[in-house]
Amino acid sequence: MGEPLNPQREQLKRELFAEVEGKQIPSHIAIIMDGNGRWAKQHGLTRIRGHQMGARRVKGVVRFADKLGVRHITLYAFSVENWARPSFEVSALMRLIRTYIVKERSDLHAEGVRFRIIGRVNELAPEIIEEARISTELMKCNQGLSLNLCINYGGRAEIVDAVRALVAKGLKSDQITEEAIACNLYAPDLPDPDLIVRTSGEMRISNFLLWQCAYSELYVTEVLWPDFDDVELLLAVKAFQGRERRFGKTSEQMESKR
Ligand code: FPP
Repeated sequence: MGEPLNPQREQLKRELFAEVEGKQIPSHIAIIMDGNGRWAKQHGLTRIRGHQMGARRVKGVVRFADKLGVRHITLYAFSVENWARPSFEVSALMRLIRTYIVKERSDLHAEGVRFRIIGRVNELAPEIIEEARISTELMKCNQGLSLNLCINYGGRAEIVDAVRALVAKGLKSDQITEEAIACNLYAPDLPDPDLIVRTSGEMRISNFLLWQCAYSELYVTEVLWPDFDDVELLLAVKAFQGRERRFGKTSEQMESKR
């Protein structure tokens, strides 16, 4: 569970919940969980401690997203570029990810969550592949929220891998369509994110879901990931509800469809 909120924050949560309830909840929220390092620095702690505190936030956010009616949540936990970090930080992140998968397995299953890893999975350590396989298998028939952890993930790598798969299947150039590429992404059944949240204020997409983000709404908050609580998720959803999604069309066209 996330940390308990103080009474004022709890009150704000209730108010925001009442505001967003009954309006359109984004079906798929994807999150760039940034700012663990800065959070640690602000608190005079090590970067590893920052990641540990970031990992502690994951459970609360997943559970609250589920409660809100979100159907899919995708978390950017480790990018293909993150291997270039100091080796002790890479090892610590991998340990945290493995611990999360093992420790949360039974609770996630009990809550009806479906779980999978998205990315170049076969390049991960065998123990992570195995633990993820066990979780995915265990939860595959669940009907609740789908939780997608992006590990060793890169948006460009994903597109390259999709095109390679099409070439391997012997497709001709006129058969390489948007649909064909979309069907060969890592999680072809996963709808594109409606909302992409990035914490810690950076206005970048950082190689996250490059194909899928074409019409996603972007929401950036200054809040650092270890401080991202239920109220912050509600604020992101509220911002989403204030957007007009036009998918390249005009406002008038969208109005006439309603
Ligand atoms: C970015 O913060 C965060 C990461 C590279 C890793 C995200 C990982 C977690 C939240 C913990 C593990 C995840 C799970 C699912 C258990 P940063 O280090 O780039 O922060 P900075 O920009 O402030 O230095």
